[in-house]
Amino acid sequence: MKGLILAGGFATRLRPLSCSKPKLLFPIVGVPLIDVMLDWMKPAGVTEVILAVNHLADRMRKEIGEKRRGLDVLYSIEPEPLGTGGPLRLAKNLLGSDEPFLVINGDIVSNLDLRKIVKAHEDNDHIEATIALVEVPDPSHYGLVRMDKDRRIKQFDEKTKNVDGSGVVNAGVYILSPEVLEKIPSSGMVSIERQVFPKLAKDNLMQGWEHRGGYWYDVGKIPDYVRVNRELLEQSDATNRAGKEGPTYVGRGSVIEQSAQIGAYSILSDKVTVKSGSRIRDSIVFEETLVEEKCQIEGAIVGERVRLGTGVRLGPGSLVAGEISIPAGRTFGENSVVLNA
Ligand code: GDD
Ligand code: MG
Repeated sequence: MKGLILAGGFATRLRPLSCSKPKLLFPIVGVPLIDVMLDWMKPAGVTEVILAVNHLADRMRKEIGEKRRGLDVLYSIEPEPLGTGGPLRLAKNLLGSDEPFLVINGDIVSNLDLRKIVKAHEDNDHIEATIALVEVPDPSHYGLVRMDKDRRIKQFDEKTKNVDGSGVVNAGVYILSPEVLEKIPSSGMVSIERQVFPKLAKDNLMQGWEHRGGYWYDVGKIPDYVRVNRELLEQSDATNRAGKEGPTYVGRGSVIEQSAQIGAYSILSDKVTVKSGSRIRDSIVFEETLVEEKCQIEGAIVGERVRLGTGVRLGPGSLVAGEISIPAGRTFGENSVVLNA
């Protein structure tokens, strides 16, 4: 089966970290999101994945390559962003017209069993779209779904304010039959959620499959990105539980000098260096970043290939953009956004 990951857009809700790094390369407990997603898709019989991209496309191509985690990776590059439906139309020839394919929003981390939605789709000839659903406390940020007892979707409302309490929403994971491609308007930006799904629902061509009991995250916003790292860190085997207060993760090739302290809920990607006297707590540090001596980092996210000069302090909620250098002695208070220094 073919898979397509929607990985375009500007990821504005992950700025400034997303200015230099595509969302698909953000580390999830030290592992790039693309690898987490490919490992999830593979057991469902996906052999080839199309990445629908625009912003930072060259970078993705270079860093992700054409073969990854045993899957073939193809690129469908949009000169201009085409929304969530337009990219499917653009990739039509790559997707083919013979069999259903899997589409996933490029910011979903979940253990929902993709084989089950594939099967639910195969079992029902009268359906053109099977979408995974999850229950969330506040559906207004998502695509709210109303279903009948046979799991047919009767109504699809993207980002509706007209809702009170929890609800079952689109999880951003679909099996689509090729017929759906013919229903995507033929030019410009198309929102599949606003322009295609409501019609499919009205025509009785869409069903839902609810994911219960496992985990599901949309990591497209900073607080959710922090949460997925924290919660998966707690469950991961690769973490160090030696600390009393909570787990930590240190990636391959990272060097922690002897008197540096890596406190609870710190996640360091590969090849991070932390020099003596520095303290890191409750923070995420992307790959190849250098923390010089006597820095204090708490509750922060530091991008890739950053150099924090001696004695730099980062307060809770701080975000440091990738590939910058912060001079020695600088202090940043709560919720600072550091783009250059
Ligand atoms: N190729 C391409 N081109 N991809 C895009 C574009 C574009 O122009 N715009 C957005 N995307 C990608 C994003 O990178 C993301 O992976 C995916 O499409 C969905 O866009 P988001 O911006 O993350 O949407 P959302 O999270 O607000 O809502 C969507 O996901 C929810 C589940 O998390 C909708 O599908 C909701 O219905 C759903 O509930
Ligand atoms: Mg999203």
